[in-house]
Amino acid sequence: MAPAPAAAGAHAAKPATAPRPPAAPIPDLAGKTTNAASPGGAAARTAAPAAAKAATRDPDDTSPLLTRRAWMGLAWGAFSAASAAALAATGRFMFPNVLNEPPQQFKAGFPNEYGVGVDERWKEKYGIWLVRTTEDIEQHASGFYSLSVTCTHLGCTPNYLSAENKFKCPCHGSGFRITGVNFEGPAPRPLERTRIVLAEDGQILVDKSRHFQRELGQWTDPEAFLKA
Ligand code: FES
Repeated sequence: MAPAPAAAGAHAAKPATAPRPPAAPIPDLAGKTTNAASPGGAAARTAAPAAAKAATRDPDDTSPLLTRRAWMGLAWGAFSAASAAALAATGRFMFPNVLNEPPQQFKAGFPNEYGVGVDERWKEKYGIWLVRTTEDIEQHASGFYSLSVTCTHLGCTPNYLSAENKFKCPCHGSGFRITGVNFEGPAPRPLERTRIVLAEDGQILVDKSRHFQRELGQWTDPEAFLKA
């Protein structure tokens, strides 16, 4: 009768939450054994339904696959916009620029509207000074000539200095007398005169399409000076 207490003591010493042993390999019909990590195991059995679910994804689903489609749409949109801009820029060269140059000819009013000396009213709009003189150095008569405001050095626009009765270029210091003849600075030749005649209505007509250069003997041309 002595073994009965000993068996009861051994049952009391057994831990209540003993760790479970790893799952025993399961033999299949062919005799092979599988576990959770092996092909066809538990992991493979849970991955297969997920792949099937992704293949039948709802189009409205906000998953990473739809985000890639959105990025592709944006990329194509940007490409199309850049192509359209390049096409428009190329087409722009098919048309000439609009030039807003003032007309080459203009009427400058009647001779009796001018006093002797340099008149600057046409400088900004037409690029000439209208000068009235009592004795021209080339024509030896009284009248008018039209001087271009373009410096013969490098093309700047001189200023008329009434106190010194001369034109002075602000760029490199060339100086011109009111006749247009250069006398100081780097300008190599006089200012150019333009055609000036009397229009049918008695007004002074200035024509910038024709220039006269003194060094070429052109200031003696009848249309380089308007006698008055
Ligand atoms: S451009 Fe007039 S002095 Fe040089």
